[in-house]
Amino acid sequence: MNLVEEIKNAIQESIEAIYQKAVSNDALLINETKAEFEGDFTLVTFSLSKLLGKKPDEIADELGKELVDKFDLFTSYNVIKGFLNLTINHQFYISFLNDNWHNNEFGLLPSNHIKVMVEYSSPNTNKPLHFGHLRNIFLGASIANILDAAGYEVIKANLINDRGIHICKSMVAWLQFGNGATPQSTGIKGDHLVGDYYVKFNDTYKLEIETLIASGHSKEEAEKKAPIYLQAQELLRKWEAGDEETLSLWKTMNDWVYEGFDISYERLGITFDKFYYESKTYLLGKKIIERGLENGVLFQKEDQSVWIDLTDDSLDQKLLLRGDGTSVYITQDIGTANLKYSDFEMDRSVYVIGDEQNYHMQVLKLIMQKMGEPGADGIYHLSYGMVELPNGKMKSREGNVVDADDMMDEMIAIAKKNTEELGKVDGFSKQELDDLFITLGLGALKFYLLRVDPKKRMIFNPEESIDFHGFTGPFVQYTHARICSILRKAGD
Ligand code: ARG
Repeated sequence: MNLVEEIKNAIQESIEAIYQKAVSNDALLINETKAEFEGDFTLVTFSLSKLLGKKPDEIADELGKELVDKFDLFTSYNVIKGFLNLTINHQFYISFLNDNWHNNEFGLLPSNHIKVMVEYSSPNTNKPLHFGHLRNIFLGASIANILDAAGYEVIKANLINDRGIHICKSMVAWLQFGNGATPQSTGIKGDHLVGDYYVKFNDTYKLEIETLIASGHSKEEAEKKAPIYLQAQELLRKWEAGDEETLSLWKTMNDWVYEGFDISYERLGITFDKFYYESKTYLLGKKIIERGLENGVLFQKEDQSVWIDLTDDSLDQKLLLRGDGTSVYITQDIGTANLKYSDFEMDRSVYVIGDEQNYHMQVLKLIMQKMGEPGADGIYHLSYGMVELPNGKMKSREGNVVDADDMMDEMIAIAKKNTEELGKVDGFSKQELDDLFITLGLGALKFYLLRVDPKKRMIFNPEESIDFHGFTGPFVQYTHARICSILRKAGD
């Protein structure tokens, strides 16, 4: 039984004894005592006044006396304006700690047989994980841990958007400028290598647009006619047609990216139970959309494109499949959601995705519901705001994003610098020092990104995050280390 329940029981018994009246458990309101008053827990007596036919202050006083007299749990009480403040006997905490001292399961709830999938990270394969992904990854992983501790059966999932125009852009640039470069030949981590060619694509694209505009084209024309862009589109067509050479390059470059992601995930201490790949679900999405056309949930426009009309849900019309039959972002999500459910039949399906996709997720859930897809009602978008760095916004397309790997390096370097300045690490081996800097640097990063309400935009300040005196990971780690030291000294 927990402490509040124990307090409530004592109060119920005392009310019986003094007033011969029964009060339900729910009718008793117990709060933690405010810091400015003496006591640990406070009973609010106003709501009892009518039932017991007395003034709150009187009730509080009579109850307080009875509780302290009859129950060892309380050592003293005081009454402030109808609030009964109770002080708990230290013996309670001592026996509580003695009972739970060696209990590693303390606080874990028994299984509730509710299955939840939590999808997080979910990168594209044209570039490395960036700093913004870290907030996503930490939120997803910690929600999964919390649900697990609360008795849920949790499936940690990662959806990889591994196909489409974005990866074709990296592929085209590699074909044009790569000279056969590989992670092995260059010593560059695979995801970074592929990301470099994505940047190269965008640089080239920009130059080509400028040239076209200079020769008299409008901006829109130029954007559509730039040779490198046409080549990327051509590659996408070949990919969709199953062209072997294209598929083989796609597979090779994606594998480089996965090798890189694996290293980053491992460094972050992040794992997944199940990976989904857009390339394996977008066709399923198309099939479901066809079914939606047949049963009239969806409609087709003159150009053959497929839409859903959500005006009755105060949204607009949403494109699900282009006129030429090619898929859009949501096409694969419809297939992925269906596949996830057939794989696990989970009760709830959480998607950790940034708030710029609120509309996308609202539409996805509505579509799945209207299509009568099982599990649709369990879809939940855990939305979060953007993280910015003190020197400005994280840019996406141009390549001047901060990579997750670089951020980790920087945090570890700051941990090293600060620790060496404090100079309390004499006698540590090289290995112990390296481990310490990782623990401090990454602990600071995780704690700082998680301490803010997910819905809020935030600024990440590396120096502040690692301050031993702030509301930070290292402060918690320091406190933990002190407690461990006390326990060591206390022996058994
Ligand atoms: N890969 C996408 C992006 O980088 C995010 C995917 C989120 N998950 C999903 N099921 N749509 O924007």
